[in-house]
Amino acid sequence: MLRVLERGSPQRPPRERMRTRLAATMFIVVLTAPSPAMSEGRPVAPGNATEKGFEPSSACSCHGELLPQWRASMHAKAISDPVFLVALEEAGRDGGEEVALFCKRCHAPVGHMLGDFDATGDVAKEGVTCMFCHQVTGMLKGEVGNVSQLVDADLVRRAQLKEPKAPHPAQYSSLHESPALCGGCHNVSHPGNGSHLESTYTEWEKGPYADEGIACQDCHMSVKPGVVGPARGVAADGAPSRDNIYSMRFFGPNLPQDDEGLATALLESAAKLELDTQGVLPAGQVASMTVAVTNSGAGHYLPTGVTDVRQMWLSVWTELPDGSKHSVAESRFGTVLEGTTDGGASSPWESLEVKSDFRIPPREMITLNYLYEVPVEVGSYTLKAALLYKSVPDELADKAGLTRNPTCRMTEVSRVVYQSETARTEAVEKPLGQRRLGAGVLRVPGWLALSVLAALALAAGVLNIYAIKAWRRSG
Ligand code: HEC
Ligand code: HEC
Ligand code: HEC
Ligand code: HEC
Repeated sequence: MLRVLERGSPQRPPRERMRTRLAATMFIVVLTAPSPAMSEGRPVAPGNATEKGFEPSSACSCHGELLPQWRASMHAKAISDPVFLVALEEAGRDGGEEVALFCKRCHAPVGHMLGDFDATGDVAKEGVTCMFCHQVTGMLKGEVGNVSQLVDADLVRRAQLKEPKAPHPAQYSSLHESPALCGGCHNVSHPGNGSHLESTYTEWEKGPYADEGIACQDCHMSVKPGVVGPARGVAADGAPSRDNIYSMRFFGPNLPQDDEGLATALLESAAKLELDTQGVLPAGQVASMTVAVTNSGAGHYLPTGVTDVRQMWLSVWTELPDGSKHSVAESRFGTVLEGTTDGGASSPWESLEVKSDFRIPPREMITLNYLYEVPVEVGSYTLKAALLYKSVPDELADKAGLTRNPTCRMTEVSRVVYQSETARTEAVEKPLGQRRLGAGVLRVPGWLALSVLAALALAAGVLNIYAIKAWRRSG
């Protein structure tokens, strides 16, 4: 189901990149921003809400499946996630308290508003919790990102339901149908120099899905990965059935910390591969092939988010008839931030600029060319390519004490290559031809014979009956 995103959605961010911003200015804005009128909500800054303004998720237990869905999501773990905590510690060590505060403001926004910066309180430690999202009433003017939501902590729950019927105050909010609500956190720019560290929202906004009205919600809050849009269901126990109900599961590709099955299914829905080379190549020469990687299912770049941490790569190899595998190449996708080493779990807070960006925009294709040596005389062999994904590098996973760090095989493609025309004819055409002939010889006369016999038997039977009858009549 598609929706019109323009309806009531907040202002779009300027398309131009804002690069130069001073750290000091940024923190003054964050910490002492004057609050606009209450009805418009207040920025996520200390002193802009009191503890009474946020109920813990346990107060939402009337919402059937929604509570366990959210509890299993990365949003519920945003401030307790061990990988985040390792990065936070390093950020604090290298960048000081101000940088750590910048991180926690987004990973634990309720704590920030309450001045509970270490997020120890009941609601603050829930990270990106129900009552944060459902009390967002607007967006700050300007660029979407770095927690640009405005919050009105008045215990009124806002969502997409028109005429909500609830035992607590509830209100329709068109903002909850808009990706800007997500973009307020899913766009992260360096607080000092404005360089773009995460741009998921902007990538979506400039891509084809925005034009078609397919929102973040449609892909990450649907019934399951790969399914787009809401489903019929109820918002709470005993509530009327509606056709625009979303899940609070927010599934993503975090393999070691999320449900591996869900993460894998989402990753499998993201990309397609095509492999092209000549079908016949003589042994012992250098040949070329191309592998095309299409971002067929992600609403933003592939990969997106913390692309300096995430790992996605294309692995290409040959497989010989004896089962042995020989690597041709490995091509890595992702971003490299200036001032960091290639591929490492780097320190984005030290970065000045995205140095290189090798990723695939939504619905676009990247074609990679490889040269490889055709194996010695083996008759035929298989060229294979697989797109692989890993959420965090092993080193970072170890530091975070994760017990597993799986690699997901998003998609795979293969192509058999023959070393001569004869080898191909033997492998492809002969057995097929024989099968066809064999079947022809055996089956058709068999069936024919059977049916002829059956018909004869029937005819004989019928004739017999008539003969007997005639004989009786005459007798
Ligand atoms: C990251 C933000 C976020 C969090 C966290 C969150 N929600 Fe939602 N919720 C939304 C959005 C956005 C929608 C509307 C989706 C749409 O219409 O596109 C929604 C819709 C709903 C609805 C309307 C019915 C439905 O399922 O669509 C209810 C009820 C609800 N949420 C309850 C909860 C509860 C309870 C929790 C915590 C256990 C929770 N939400 C956590 C963002 C959030
Ligand atoms: C208050 C900020 C905030 C808001 C609002 C928010 N997110 Fe998030 N989101 C986060 C953070 C922080 C994480 C990462 C948590 C972690 O891994 O430590 C995250 C993680 C996710 C993930 C999991 C990614 C993975 O690697 O598996 C998905 C999917 C996601 N968010 C989707 C959404 C959608 C859709 C919305 C809007 C309805 C939304 N978020 C709104 C802050 C936010
Ligand atoms: C058309 C479906 C679709 C839309 C629309 C969409 N996503 Fe995704 N998203 C995916 C798929 C598939 C993946 C897994 C592949 C990847 O990582 O890009 C993903 C991955 C992610 C991740 C995890 C990236 C990582 O590797 O850690 C986040 C975070 C995320 N999406 C947030 C969003 C937000 C925010 C929006 C809206 C601005 C959005 N998505 C729109 C399909 C979608
Ligand atoms: C404005 C919001 C925002 C700010 C500020 C922010 N993050 Fe995040 N962070 C996110 C979102 C959204 C994700 C999920 C993206 C994804 O899954 O790719 C995330 C994911 C992460 C992850 C990956 C977690 C995992 O489980 O794999 C790490 C690590 C992380 N952030 C560290 C930091 C650090 C350190 C800082 C401060 C320097 C910081 N973040 C500041 C929004 C933010």
